[in-house]
Amino acid sequence: MTGKKRALRSAAWFGGDGKNAFMHRSWMKNQGIPDDEFDGRPVIGICNTWSELTPCNAHLRGIADHVKRGVYEAGGLPLEFPVMSLGESNLRPTAMLFRNLASMDVEESIRGNPIDGVILLVGCDKTTPALLMGAASANLPTIAISGGPMLNGKYRGQDIGSGTHVWKFAEDVKAGRMTVEAFLGAEQGQSRSAGSCMTMGTASTMASMVEALGIGMPDNAAIPAVDSRRGVLSHLAGRRIVELVRDDVKIAQILTRQAFENAIRVNGAIGGSTNAVLHLIAIARRLGIDLSLDDWDRLGRGVPTIVDLMPSGRFLMEDFYYAGGLAPVMAALDDAGLLHGHALTVNGKSIAQNIVDAPNYNTEVIRPMDNPLTPEGGIAVLRGNLAPDGAVIKPSAATPALMQHRGKAVVFENIEHFYARIDDPDLNIDASSVMVLKNCGPRGYPGMPEVGNMPMPTKLLKQGVSDMVRISDARMSGTAYGTVVLHVAPEAASGGVLALVRDGDIIELDVAGRRLELMVSDAELASRRADWTPPVAPVGGYQSLYVEKVLQADSGCDFDFLVGRRDAGIPRHSH
Ligand code: FES
Repeated sequence: MTGKKRALRSAAWFGGDGKNAFMHRSWMKNQGIPDDEFDGRPVIGICNTWSELTPCNAHLRGIADHVKRGVYEAGGLPLEFPVMSLGESNLRPTAMLFRNLASMDVEESIRGNPIDGVILLVGCDKTTPALLMGAASANLPTIAISGGPMLNGKYRGQDIGSGTHVWKFAEDVKAGRMTVEAFLGAEQGQSRSAGSCMTMGTASTMASMVEALGIGMPDNAAIPAVDSRRGVLSHLAGRRIVELVRDDVKIAQILTRQAFENAIRVNGAIGGSTNAVLHLIAIARRLGIDLSLDDWDRLGRGVPTIVDLMPSGRFLMEDFYYAGGLAPVMAALDDAGLLHGHALTVNGKSIAQNIVDAPNYNTEVIRPMDNPLTPEGGIAVLRGNLAPDGAVIKPSAATPALMQHRGKAVVFENIEHFYARIDDPDLNIDASSVMVLKNCGPRGYPGMPEVGNMPMPTKLLKQGVSDMVRISDARMSGTAYGTVVLHVAPEAASGGVLALVRDGDIIELDVAGRRLELMVSDAELASRRADWTPPVAPVGGYQSLYVEKVLQADSGCDFDFLVGRRDAGIPRHSH
């Protein structure tokens, strides 16, 4: 090893012939790395959310091996490191509580280590935004690789979708349409392979966002986790990140406002998860881009949902990949003038170059723009006295007849009150009622759990009622469906008007007019506010930091002190 001067960031650790370089290189060599690997080649951090407690990411060690081959081939040195993994199915009270914490782990792991470029291995819902948020603040050359979806679920000759069929079958059992034995039989066939939820839930939505943003390689959205082409993609990404380092193309040059605008429109076309609203706003604001709910509403208008996947439609991610994946969807948007085609992507080409002549092999799965699944696929942003700072609804997952509705509120003060009350035979509720759930927002729960698609009362399910208007400050699983108004801001626990709703109040929902109104006078609301007391906040530990620092849903639920870019730079050292 010589003292040759190097331009790369990692040279501040590994370059030179002094005491510090000795220390940094010497300890690394205990892993069997030859001396010439420290010759000034790009050091690529592989930021891995592998965990056996995050089943959707449990195969990511294998993906990392594919990446390493590509990095070595291109003349880089790959070094894999773990970060906090957020498993949606296991983590309590809700994985969203830890998204910002994981993003800090990512940002500081990148900043503190001798890394020139980074590969983000993501999959399960919150792992994608957490890693993109942290990497955005650190601003090094970056490529995200999604782990890919599971193969289609199968049960008794039928395709079943992650989450979507859990909600459906659970309601079927409650309504007496399905036996418990059949329900448990379906459990055996839902999760048939490695990978993330194979519906267009939050994981597949965010994998699609990665591709649409240009921060992932072409085909990132849909290749199944166990398809060898996921390995090829990872191998090629390993080669490519070395070139991005050599060309000094940082994440901020990829994640531009145009890239986010593309992603919002793609989200409408795929019928993507409402969770993407929070995550894209949070990622963008890490980069100083003031993405807002108004951007979501404005850009989503006129975008039809053309991907016929559960929970909005019929098919699953495996079908989506065989139909052509995200490229023909983006090509259709581009043809309609709804895409910034010049936006740069990590493979060095523009979005338009990546999707040129992208074939659609199945027009049932990816429908033509003039015969969509839903004509208005974008996320609708509602405002009114019940949500002055906004609320969202996913029209493609809602019942058209309920999109304009006026009904009496049935109020649940918190999630425990909901479960205690929902199946009370004396509960005064019918199909026209509006279910209102409070204190499940970012501060109220805390962590904003996915409980906004409240299960319907058993007595109404037995009457054949299949959907009702539901309103809350909570989130909803991307695999869920219904006429569900979410992310009400300000939330109840912050003293939003939602906190003042009482049983029997009239609520008016008008999705076309983008309105959500509580038909109660200002004087009456003022009198109720005088009687209102905020819920008790958690004392001590991470949850108290969370409640103190979390921003409201319309700002993406980031911590106030994490918003913005703090480029990795080269930290001081103490040796
Ligand atoms: Fe992990 Fe759905 S639970 S992706």
